[in-house]
Amino acid sequence: MKAVKTLGQFIIEKQADFPYAKGELSRLLRDIGIAAKIVNREVNKAGLADIIGDVGTVNVQGENQKKLDVYANEQFIAALQSGGECCTVVSEENDEYVYIDSEISKNAKYVVCIDPLDGSSNIDVNVGVGTIFSIFRRVSKDGKATMEDVLQKGTEQVAAGYVVYGSSTMLVYTTGKGVNGFTLDPSIGEFCLSHPDMQVPQDGNIYSINEGYYAHFPDGIKKYIKFCQVEDEKTRRPYTSRYTGSMVADIHRTLIKGGIFMYPITAQAPNGKLRLIYECNPIAFIVEQAGGRATNGYERILELEVKELHQRSAIIIGSTKMVEKAEEMLACFSPQITKTTFEGVVTIQ
Ligand code: AHG
Ligand code: MN
Ligand code: MN
Repeated sequence: MKAVKTLGQFIIEKQADFPYAKGELSRLLRDIGIAAKIVNREVNKAGLADIIGDVGTVNVQGENQKKLDVYANEQFIAALQSGGECCTVVSEENDEYVYIDSEISKNAKYVVCIDPLDGSSNIDVNVGVGTIFSIFRRVSKDGKATMEDVLQKGTEQVAAGYVVYGSSTMLVYTTGKGVNGFTLDPSIGEFCLSHPDMQVPQDGNIYSINEGYYAHFPDGIKKYIKFCQVEDEKTRRPYTSRYTGSMVADIHRTLIKGGIFMYPITAQAPNGKLRLIYECNPIAFIVEQAGGRATNGYERILELEVKELHQRSAIIIGSTKMVEKAEEMLACFSPQITKTTFEGVVTIQ
């Protein structure tokens, strides 16, 4: 019988890949895994306990905060605080970055950016939700973390991952040497290696986009959607359409089955909706590590300049061939949205 490998065992084994590492990143990943199990416990009880619905507050992006958004945020920050390896946290649920101010965090080297609960509007209806995290080494030497520490480019990430609370709960992460997935075995309370060395298929036949906004998409995206819908046996078209409203769930499916996930700019969201540092960058790092491609339609996500904490970005991500085709359509039919005019300047017909 094959022995199970827990997330903790795997992290320690992999530490040997980084000869200079002193175990801090391993401890940080372990802390995130522990918080994920606590959040999982509450997510699983949604419907039984009084944890469904809005708190009545609005976050910095003007979104209603769900009780579980707030709960998950508190749990992850508490785990990072007691772990001692993280000096500051950028969270979707906090306007500013949060200093971790504890005796054991004095020499903490890492910055964590997090979307504590992704797809939270799906909580009330029992559809899969997630957590997304991104880890950087701090740039400043000591003292309180600075803007320079939290506004690093995606290429500087040392690790990134997500947890999907779905029909089973999985934690998927990368430290830049491939992607591995762990399924939570509730009977032993451990994440166990179930998806070693995940690879996104180079091509696929699933497209994922909120087509309700069709009228507001740039022409290149409209043309690509039409391309997906055209009959063509050789390329397995028409493709099928899947969109859950939880990016983590849609990305997890894309990683396993292949496909393309798009959240482009729209008339209502002229810079895109998803946030660069705790949604797009970590997911782009994972998908690239699994052999896929991630762009805003014109530029590689991981190389985008990061100017503010809650900066938004368009994202087109998934199987390389599909993403390249969408980029080709954008270059051909929406060339007016160029590198320099990308931020907000768009002609929508
Ligand atoms: P969050 O719950 O963290 O605010 O993220 C929701 C995001 C993402 O998960 C999803 O893909 C997208 O918003 C859905 O947005 P639309 O309803 O506009 O399609
Ligand atoms: Mn989100
Ligand atoms: Mn969220």
